[in-house]
Amino acid sequence: MNKTRVAVLISGRGSNMTALIEAAKAKDYPAEIVLVVSNRADAAGLARAREAAITTAVIDHRPFGEDRQAFEHALDAELRKNRIEIVCLAGFMRLLSPWFIAHWSGRILNIHPALLPEFKGLDTHRRALEAGAKRHGATVHFVVEETDAGPVIRQQSVPVLQGDTEETLAARVLEVEHRIYPEALRLVAEGQVKFAAPQIEIKNPRV
Ligand code: GRF
Repeated sequence: MNKTRVAVLISGRGSNMTALIEAAKAKDYPAEIVLVVSNRADAAGLARAREAAITTAVIDHRPFGEDRQAFEHALDAELRKNRIEIVCLAGFMRLLSPWFIAHWSGRILNIHPALLPEFKGLDTHRRALEAGAKRHGATVHFVVEETDAGPVIRQQSVPVLQGDTEETLAARVLEVEHRIYPEALRLVAEGQVKFAAPQIEIKNPRV
């Protein structure tokens, strides 16, 4: 079987990355994790990736300063060097520019710890508790320009229980994350789910 070549982008502990690596060990899984990229050299997930004998790369965003595009060109070059077909964001704490997203359109997935479109952005568990939500959960979606707004591939809810703290709720959601991210990647790698962004019409193209 020709497996889809996947890169996972992380900034931290990498538990979703690990879930993807574990799932991809199955013979019949349609994707393989061939590269893990972090923008932080101290991301705990890097060590876990190395233990799993996966190629890792650190592309520190700081030397690029305000030049987001230069950082993303370096990232793009690393992805192309490794012949990556799908990019999975897993706790990657950099916003990607329209250029990068257009370039990888339909081929970037993200996991968000809430039931989108509810609670986009950060601190989702705290905000769900504050809002008195009865249910919370996680979503895997295609990445589009607008943050946390792309088409949903997979989503699962968990109950919010009496006495929940941010930590207990986060732990319940994380279990779901680890289940649905491999499921969503499978669907995309098998071509069962596709996303094609609308084409932008270029008027008066120069030739
Ligand atoms: C997860 O909660 C994910 O949904 C969010 O960032 C967190 C990353 O955790 N985008 P981990 O690094 O995968 O453990």
